[in-house]
Amino acid sequence: MKTLAPYFMLVLCFISTQAWSESTDDREIIWVTDAEKTALLTEMRNFLGASQQILAAALSEEVDAIEAAARPVGVKLMKNTPDALKAKLPKGFGQLGSKTHLGFENIADEASGMGDTTLILQQLATLQTHCIACHARYQFKVAQIKK
Ligand code: HEC
Repeated sequence: MKTLAPYFMLVLCFISTQAWSESTDDREIIWVTDAEKTALLTEMRNFLGASQQILAAALSEEVDAIEAAARPVGVKLMKNTPDALKAKLPKGFGQLGSKTHLGFENIADEASGMGDTTLILQQLATLQTHCIACHARYQFKVAQIKK
């Protein structure tokens, strides 16, 4: 293993230089206000926090903690999106967002019901494919308000 390390580092360097030299972001832009961007990214960090808590709690078989982490980012949050922001979000974004909230709600339901942690880990893995799909497709940019 030891002898392979330098080659591995070389490959890593190559990958990172390539990424830096081709750094144009051609994902679809969603124009939002500064406040909307802050709210959206806060929600994102809550998603990441909840995912980590669910993973840790599933591994230690703590079903109450799983529900406590998943429920607040479930369908309840979906209803909180202001209409003005909803109008700016492309259909595909809305669909992936709904699937993500529903995924967390299903995890919370499984935790408070049968509490099968293997199933919950599978649900989490499926849910995370929506995170990945959306990140690959969209970016937020703050629209400059004309003075
Ligand atoms: C419906 C689309 C969508 C879904 C679903 C989604 N995200 Fe995001 N997320 C975004 C976009 C767009 C950004 C901003 C990316 C950019 O502008 O470069 C973002 C940014 C983030 C960030 C960075 C936050 C910051 O403070 O900069 C994190 C962390 C994140 N997402 C986690 C997640 C996790 C975890 C999930 C799934 C549980 C998830 N997201 C699901 C669209 C989505």
